[in-house]
Amino acid sequence: MTARTGTRPSAPGTVLTGRDGELDRAARRALAGNWRLCATVPAAGLYPHQWSWDSAFIAIGLRHLSPVRAQRELESLFGAQWRDGRVPHIVFDPHVPADAYFPGPAFWQSATAPGAPGVPTSGIVQPPAHALAAWATFRADPEAARARGFLPRIYPRLVAWHRYLTTRRDLTGSGLMAIGHPWESGMDNSPAWDLPLSRVTPVPIGEFARRDLNHAAAAERPTDEDYGRYVRLARDYRDSGYADALRVHGFAVEDPMCNALLAAGEEALAAMAAELGQDPRPHLAAAERVTEALMSTLYDPEAGIFFPRDAHTGALIRSYSVGGLLPLIVPGLPVAAALVSTALGERFRLREACPLPSYDLTAADHDASRYWRGPGWVNTSWLFWHGLRLHGETTLADDLRGRLLERVRTAGFREYLDPLTGAGHGTDGFSWTAALTLDLLRAA
Ligand code: SER
Repeated sequence: MTARTGTRPSAPGTVLTGRDGELDRAARRALAGNWRLCATVPAAGLYPHQWSWDSAFIAIGLRHLSPVRAQRELESLFGAQWRDGRVPHIVFDPHVPADAYFPGPAFWQSATAPGAPGVPTSGIVQPPAHALAAWATFRADPEAARARGFLPRIYPRLVAWHRYLTTRRDLTGSGLMAIGHPWESGMDNSPAWDLPLSRVTPVPIGEFARRDLNHAAAAERPTDEDYGRYVRLARDYRDSGYADALRVHGFAVEDPMCNALLAAGEEALAAMAAELGQDPRPHLAAAERVTEALMSTLYDPEAGIFFPRDAHTGALIRSYSVGGLLPLIVPGLPVAAALVSTALGERFRLREACPLPSYDLTAADHDASRYWRGPGWVNTSWLFWHGLRLHGETTLADDLRGRLLERVRTAGFREYLDPLTGAGHGTDGFSWTAALTLDLLRAA
């Protein structure tokens, strides 16, 4: 099970030399600059609080520097878990000025929501990469983790998190979790969301003030119209008391990457249960159920990719996004070879494009510098690399790893990159880019 659920960590304290040593030191510096008391912000200006799936990827890198700090990263996030099991996508730092980020605590009003924690948070979620990260963190130094009681503390919280997703977020009875907001996909302005979002009336831009444009170029961020729709959906969800039902979620989509993370995460939970002397079988059964639902509901054999499904219409959204390739992280996935072949094809050009494009290179609306509408991101490429290794594609995995490191050496720890030219975009000093660089450097 160990080999199926995580990359093999190096011994803590491994010292890298030469060019690798330089890159390693720069990545450590970037992460040190973004560390705040007990968690890491994704980027000092643009994202000045703790973000959920960011912290999962950050822990995967931090485990090489300090397994205890990686444990704390996850513990501080799960310390803000709601009573219903949801893990909020942002945990706000009360010391950061209210106007530093929008939408902040005053918008989400978690203090008055039932079952919310004492610390202010948002009310939506992000992709469930945490079980994978927690198991990888444990394996980096099992003795240190046992000494701190890391698994006995984090495992029940992860179980509650997955239970929230597989019950309250199964909005159609398909056995798949649904996202209720583009922010929940982690891929905010993916072209895959254009159609379901077109049914949402934007809140006029005059009624709220974007803060992201103080830190990043407008041409590299979502449009005002998209933001207006994001605000409408979040406001409606908040005003419902964060109730999960199709009638509440004006946008509801079953997303392949989120469900793949859930299935792979259940495998990691099975490994944790075994380590704790508990029965791993319910987790293995859950992994199988989600994998079967992914295969029967979202996989398109002719296209050789998974498509998201609009929970309101039941129709597949036939948009080629990197998320559709990421079920490659699911152990035992029966269509791994087809996904690899799609990644090698003209839409993603795995052998040249790097990081893997977030969206179809051949599409007329591919935009190589605008957030999730084309640029390559290091976290999704890391997941694909992890999947390649899981399915025995070591040559392709090693090649991708080498080119990712080259890209980061040239561009720095940027948020996203033009997949063909390697030009950096978005913010700089981006934590998961630095953290996953640390992991890639140690994975030879
Ligand atoms: N990714 C969104 C942002 O840019 C929301 O988490 O702020």
